[in-house]
Amino acid sequence: MASSALISDTEPWEELKAHVEDIKKTHLRDLLSDAHRSQSMIVEFDDVLLDYSRQNATLATIDKLFKLAEAANLKQKINRMFAGEHINSTEDRSVLHVALRAPRDAVIQSDGKNVVPDVWKVLDKIQEFSERIRSGSWVGATGKALKDVVAVGIGGSFLGPLFVHTALQTEPEAIKSAKGRQLRFLANVDPIDVARNITGLNPETTLVVVVSKTFTTAETMLNARTLREWISAALGPSAVAKHMVAVSTNLTLVEKFGIDPNNAFAFWDWVGGRYSVCSAVGVLPLSLQYGFPIIEKFLKGASSIDQHFYSAPFEKNIPVLLGLLSVWNVSFLGYPARAILPYSQALEKFAPHIQQVSMESNGKGVSIDGVPLPFEAGEIDFGEPGTNGQHSFYQLIHQGRIIPCDFIGVVKSQQPIYLKGEVVSNHDELMSNFFAQPDALAYGKVRFYSGTTIDASVIQTRENLQKENAAEHLIPHKTFSGNRPSLSLLLPSLNAYNIGQLLAIYEHRIAVQGFVWGINSFDQWGVELGKSLATQVRKQLHAFRTKGEPVQGFNFSTTTLLTRYLE
Ligand code: F6P
Repeated sequence: MASSALISDTEPWEELKAHVEDIKKTHLRDLLSDAHRSQSMIVEFDDVLLDYSRQNATLATIDKLFKLAEAANLKQKINRMFAGEHINSTEDRSVLHVALRAPRDAVIQSDGKNVVPDVWKVLDKIQEFSERIRSGSWVGATGKALKDVVAVGIGGSFLGPLFVHTALQTEPEAIKSAKGRQLRFLANVDPIDVARNITGLNPETTLVVVVSKTFTTAETMLNARTLREWISAALGPSAVAKHMVAVSTNLTLVEKFGIDPNNAFAFWDWVGGRYSVCSAVGVLPLSLQYGFPIIEKFLKGASSIDQHFYSAPFEKNIPVLLGLLSVWNVSFLGYPARAILPYSQALEKFAPHIQQVSMESNGKGVSIDGVPLPFEAGEIDFGEPGTNGQHSFYQLIHQGRIIPCDFIGVVKSQQPIYLKGEVVSNHDELMSNFFAQPDALAYGKVRFYSGTTIDASVIQTRENLQKENAAEHLIPHKTFSGNRPSLSLLLPSLNAYNIGQLLAIYEHRIAVQGFVWGINSFDQWGVELGKSLATQVRKQLHAFRTKGEPVQGFNFSTTTLLTRYLE
């Protein structure tokens, strides 16, 4: 396919469109009885198991998706990413988050320069700094050790680190290593978030890490000034040097802000904000909390998936399969959303992180060459840990709209509980749901079923329904069609390494979707307009408060709202 052509103009796209009719005639109930199909749809790498046999897809669908990948030059695009080419063409940048977790001796070039030594220089600096803070050899202005950290940042400078922190919080090795330290995140410009974050903290024992790629983001800079004031007011202005450090690509602005450049941790424009958790953005606050060795394991997990993504053939390549299946669901079957359902409370911040990575990356209306897309790209991601979600929005997924689901399970719990006298462990109880829900979605519950291979507990006969005291008029309410797609990812445990694996699987999956749709998944121009309109409003608020200037230059609706707010 010529680089400027749209993927929707290719033959494989047309073939997949036509193939939807074949798939509509199938039901997961029958597809799942084909052992050969099911076996072919289970893939394993580095102890991560993907089962996509509950997708509305046959082996022919997968073949057709591989043809689509070929038409989209997927392999070449992956190679170009790893080769440091400027695939983020609208910002003229490489996309090299994979270099952030590459082994020390790897060679990854951007603009003719191997970036890996620079990455490791910063990682070494983080290790040394975090050890000084954690050991108490670096002390605050009053001579006390800094045991608590507030990371100030928003979007990509917040969500990824929060996800990893939340996931590690109950991991035994991480608990031991955290030794009662606290890590908090201040993201929202809402003063309530400031109040919540500093409540219970003592400036004397707190280190503030300002995290901003650009060091211009309005929310982060205001929150940073607010915490600078909090420290200065309590300990004097000279205390800032001891109590505030920064992570940024813009070291000039860091210095201007008053943070010692020696206490600034760099990253580079070839790291997108939402892909920056493996840079100092995540590694610094997380190393302060858990120690560098644990975070290095997290990087290794991500790196293992990077290698797999780069080198595994597509039929065994977990991120590629996931990405292609997403395209199938969104662009051909017409399912615009995806539910991310981790059966682990430790992953409660995973969906919010993936929401940004996916929706900021692939929420685009034009191709990478600026041609309006004749199809919708991107998908709506949301999710909650199981089993909480089951008691919230699953009803809609079972009987309402069709929403492909990602079930994420873990073999070994971080915090197992075995109660005396109970039949199964508490984790087994959780995982019973992880195994049951995909089948409930796939099989549904019907009046009659004449097949033989269906689990009777899932498929109810008319008699069973009647035994359930279902009056005839209730049967339509109590039956449901099934055939609802999901996939299952099973991780061996949830240690730092596995958390890194999970992150990289989703990052690459999202890139695959963008590569196939032919969009730029690495810019985010859409968020700019709101920011510049807020600047206009800010000026108006200032003019009113300082000079009493009336609200002007806005439309009727905004004028009315602003006037009400100001008066
Ligand atoms: O508003 C979107 C965004 O630009 C994100 O892409 C980014 O992660 C976030 O703002 C924060 O940006 P920064 O790290 O530069 O403060």
